Amino acid sequence: MKPDKVLIFDTTLRDGEQAPGASMNKDEKLEIAYALERMGVDIIEAGFPISSPGDFESVRQVAKAIKNSTVCGLARAIRKDIDAAYDAVKVAKSGRIHVFLATSKIHLEHKFKKSQDEILAMAVDAVKYAKSKISNVEFSPEDASRSEKQFLYRVLEAVIKAGATTVNIPDTVGYKTPDEYGQLFSDIRNNVPNINKAVISTHCHDDLGMGVANSLAAIKSGARQVECTVNGIGERAGNAAMEEIVMALQTRSDFYGCDTNINTKEIYKISRLVSKMTGFLVPPNKAIVGANAFRHESGIHQDGVLKEKSTYEIMSPESVGVPVGNLFLGKHSGRHAFKVRLKALGVELKDAELDKAFEEFKKLADQKKQVFDEDLMAIVEDEVKVIKSTWELVDFTNVSGMNKAAKVEVTLKSKGKKVSKSSTGDGPVDACYKAIDKITGVKGELLDYAIQSVTEGQDALGEVTVKVKVDGKSVISRAASTDIVVASAKAYLNAINKVIATVSDRAPKS
Ligand code: KIV
Ligand code: ZN
Repeated sequence: MKPDKVLIFDTTLRDGEQAPGASMNKDEKLEIAYALERMGVDIIEAGFPISSPGDFESVRQVAKAIKNSTVCGLARAIRKDIDAAYDAVKVAKSGRIHVFLATSKIHLEHKFKKSQDEILAMAVDAVKYAKSKISNVEFSPEDASRSEKQFLYRVLEAVIKAGATTVNIPDTVGYKTPDEYGQLFSDIRNNVPNINKAVISTHCHDDLGMGVANSLAAIKSGARQVECTVNGIGERAGNAAMEEIVMALQTRSDFYGCDTNINTKEIYKISRLVSKMTGFLVPPNKAIVGANAFRHESGIHQDGVLKEKSTYEIMSPESVGVPVGNLFLGKHSGRHAFKVRLKALGVELKDAELDKAFEEFKKLADQKKQVFDEDLMAIVEDEVKVIKSTWELVDFTNVSGMNKAAKVEVTLKSKGKKVSKSSTGDGPVDACYKAIDKITGVKGELLDYAIQSVTEGQDALGEVTVKVKVDGKSVISRAASTDIVVASAKAYLNAINKVIATVSDRAPKS
């Protein structure tokens, strides 16, 4: 039997961005939107247009740029929200307005102080109003999973009659168990007479760690749209993780009988991209995209995998685009082999970018015995994208010890001119950042700092992610090196370069 299609509704740019500290700028959101489109996401929820002029503009930009996915804007059940959502998505080839209004007793009594009849009338009015503007309308009864079922059925029937083409059933606070949430979908299908006129959607949060399990239970009970985010980022404990749902549907198609339009080989790349843009590191044990997800440590497992992969592997790393960690290149490899290997990893660079990446690869191959695919990906993602950098790290010396203040000398280059400054600090990283501030004239405040190794072994690349605040704006940046202080310096400098690129009077005078 042909598998049923489950539509993937990605809300990384809306619910995902609501995660504390995950805010992204317009360009970052656009880059993620392109990546989502490339991987085959059906609907991209690009933001909540009424919430700020910046969010409005981001949704509009995404709506303008994206051609193969539907672009959706969120709205409360209020006309001015719906107007803003419509104005933002109307340029899209395919646009959607997503209206939400809470239906649970707790929300009605404490948030709205309104009766069920009043809420029902508001929902119908909002959906009719949205429908007068656009044909593709989704309605979400917020906190649906804790709403009185009879009232929920009434609301769903009425909004479908008013024109909603998708009805979403959020487990807003991540409260339900898979059995209960799956049952709710069966009950809705049995008790809402016109339910066949709309797509039923699931939207789960992960407060009890059941977001993905609940989403899959809903799919098993008839949901045909799933709302999720890359890496599971989102409000509080996050949303259901897209990569986990997609791979569960694919790997267990025998059980679910469903598939998606996602090109799963793009999963790893987009996971890295979202991590880079938000500064949220992916834990090593994270399913599908964590660094350890395809590593076999115990001797028994290694032996089994060498004999027959399926002994301990239920899906292949290649199927989600995880570089397989094979040794392909060394210091004698040429530019052509380098380019071919990157292409095999799904990375195509412009000539200037390739030159820069190759230069970084050569430096790395000199320092590191074995250059793995993961290393190549780190070089490309973390170094090459800052090709337009104003300042470049040329040299760095460091004297530090346990009982004395660190002293560093940093040399940066801009427009062919080298500038060196020294500084002391509380450890070499702090001293280095102070020296960089002196040279660039930009004072950055370090808000967050994290380090992760890219591969295993003592000569592994250390990848540093920093969040830096300059003039009230925060920027996230990442860089990798075999020397963690150099990686720290480059990550910080990348952040400063990003600031300079957006504020022209920060650029050094030639
Ligand atoms: O969790 C939730 O209820 C939501 C709605 C706006 C769909 O994010
Ligand atoms: Zn949500």
